[in-house]
Amino acid sequence: MTNPLSGGPMQEADFNPLRDSQDKRLPRIAGPGGMVIFGVTGDLARKKLLPAIYDLANRGLLPASFALVGYGRRDWSKEYFERFVYDCIVDRARTPLRENVWRRLAEGIHFVQGTFDDDEAFDRLAAKLGEIDRTRGTAGNWGYYLSIPPASFSAVCNQLDRSGLAKSETGSWRRVIIEKPFGHDLQSARELNHIVNSVFPEEAVFRIDHYLGKETVQNIMALRFANQLFDPLWSSHYIDHVQITMAEDIGLGGRAGYYDGIGAARDVIQNHLLQLLALVAMEEPLAFTPHELQTEKIKVLRATEPVFPFSRTTARGQYAAGWQGSEPVVGLRDEEGFDPESNTETYAALTLQINSRRWAGVPFYLRTGKRLGRRVTEIALVFKAAPHLPFADVMTTALHENAMVIRVQPDEGVLMRFGAKVPGSTMEVRDVNMDFAYSESFTEESPEAYERLILDALLDEASLFPTNEEVELSWKILDPVLEYWAQRGRPEDYPAGSWGPESANRMLARDGRAWRRP
Ligand code: BG6
Repeated sequence: MTNPLSGGPMQEADFNPLRDSQDKRLPRIAGPGGMVIFGVTGDLARKKLLPAIYDLANRGLLPASFALVGYGRRDWSKEYFERFVYDCIVDRARTPLRENVWRRLAEGIHFVQGTFDDDEAFDRLAAKLGEIDRTRGTAGNWGYYLSIPPASFSAVCNQLDRSGLAKSETGSWRRVIIEKPFGHDLQSARELNHIVNSVFPEEAVFRIDHYLGKETVQNIMALRFANQLFDPLWSSHYIDHVQITMAEDIGLGGRAGYYDGIGAARDVIQNHLLQLLALVAMEEPLAFTPHELQTEKIKVLRATEPVFPFSRTTARGQYAAGWQGSEPVVGLRDEEGFDPESNTETYAALTLQINSRRWAGVPFYLRTGKRLGRRVTEIALVFKAAPHLPFADVMTTALHENAMVIRVQPDEGVLMRFGAKVPGSTMEVRDVNMDFAYSESFTEESPEAYERLILDALLDEASLFPTNEEVELSWKILDPVLEYWAQRGRPEDYPAGSWGPESANRMLARDGRAWRRP
């Protein structure tokens, strides 16, 4: 890289992220402000939030005065916390470590020790933020990131309110950024929304669904609304059914505390998969603004419901011992911290219908699971078979329905499957793929979802954050299935490394269909 001032080669110390940022896709830079993270010693903060904040700083998208305050029970000094953040960055940051960027970020790092019900500690937090405002120029602008269990939301919101931290002075802002799970059913989500909204106005609440921060998820909107090619096909006239899959190969070692009693449907379907469904199925928003986008997602979620009877249209399972690649792995019941009697599902599949002119009669099959064959998230739109084939049957044995597959991860891209003539002297037709891969079409690496979402929250850009209504509607869709499962005892076993329980295959077979093997 060349130093823009001297014309000579760029030295580490020359790099000024604000001036030299090479990022053309996200040139929006947050104004003065800071972030307080509650739950800063947790997994998410260590693996995602802290590295993302550094990556934003490194890309020149945070102001030089940015401040990061950790709040937690541990008796840590500023120096100790600084070291903790540094280690997380070294471990997980996406972009290279630059000494000068780190040094500037580190100057704004602070730690306040306290529990969530400690009045005195929140008063100290308020004093600390005031001091940072005066000395670092954060201008009274603070985002509070709640990376904590929902049971603690109420205590923290009330403390922020009591200590005066929730209210902004004229010209400054206060926002709350909330991690999932947002409740465990409709009733509890309503209660949480009530608590949060009694302290922060809805426009100051940013509910995180990190799938919306993924480039490939945002690309669903580009694909649908920036092109003429696909829209005429995007309905029950041509689409037979839609499969939304989020498969993971990892198990639950170390996450029992969070996952036991929650399960795959609450962990993933209620949020990530229903958001994917909403983006695939919604009508075109009037404009690309938060309000218009949310309006369309809400409309389609209101029209969505699970298909009965659940004995035939849903499936759930728990992974048993098996193989992940060439490694033997234990089953859920032998994972540390799990109650061996637990009925928590690690695999969930369900059938949804959307009661609208566009989608009547098109099932949406959603599935997710841990310890499946491989890690893949994709949305497959499977088209109806051609109404007539003027070829002899033997010529089309290797021809299936056309499909369009949006690959969310990994191998991000879009694939079209259609029939083509096999070279030779007969009219033999079989499936071929036309493939768009992000890695081949673009040189830039995609930012991490959390980079995008943290930046958007600092910028007050709410498009990629589900509203309270979306969250509640998603629970409304899921609740009847959860209630049905709660009465059914233990989920079916499936071997680790497989593609889930047999009942999931039967679920589609009954409709004359089959899951894709990604
Ligand atoms: C989280 C879930 O929301 O998403 C986890 O709580 C899951 O259970 C994770 O592993 C997967 O995220 P990603 O981005 O790796 O697909």
